[in-house]
Amino acid sequence: MSLKDVFIEELRDLYSAENQLVKALPKMAKATKTPALKSLFTAHLEETKAQVKRLKQAFQIIGKKPTGQHCNGMEGVIKEGKEAIESDEEGPTKDVELIGAGLRTEHYEIAGYTAAIAIAKALGEKEIAALLNETLKEEQNAGKNLLMESKPALKGASAEAGAGQEEEDDKPKDTKEAVSKTKSEKDEAEAAPSLDSPTTETPVKKSKKSKKK
Ligand SMILES: [Fe+2]
Repeated sequence: MSLKDVFIEELRDLYSAENQLVKALPKMAKATKTPALKSLFTAHLEETKAQVKRLKQAFQIIGKKPTGQHCNGMEGVIKEGKEAIESDEEGPTKDVELIGAGLRTEHYEIAGYTAAIAIAKALGEKEIAALLNETLKEEQNAGKNLLMESKPALKGASAEAGAGQEEEDDKPKDTKEAVSKTKSEKDEAEAAPSLDSPTTETPVKKSKKSKKK
């Protein structure tokens, strides 16, 4: 696989991720009752639509189709966000959950665009790098705005916790939560043996090529 092929894969992944967000962001906006947060999600939805078009432009430049690969990573991040949308919480606590979900999507995109820009530059695709960079700045800005908006939400949510409304019962409420709990315990058990022991992987031997230097 050539670097150009990797680049096309990265771009198709981003294209799928942005399209998934076009569907998810209206649900995020609908889930909050806070006007400022609602308008953040709505404004980013408009930006996201423009980002889809920007990616289409990038594909036009390289003469390839934008579809062909589904972004499983974004699907997972959105799935987690769905938990925030559907949670029974209300007001600031719900906002804190939604902001956490929103930040995850932005940072996932920031990672994707950062990688794609580096590859575009290595391939000498300056025009595409500039397009992707425009989007990267919007994602970074959206992340910053969400963090700003988390301040009043966190203040409100801690005031509620102070009033003794926090739930202490962490027993799973349904099958979905029970499955999640079992899986998290398996994660812990599988990582446990490695936590306190040094990594035993032997260092990779230098190849003949690199020895020649
Ligand atoms: Fe985006």
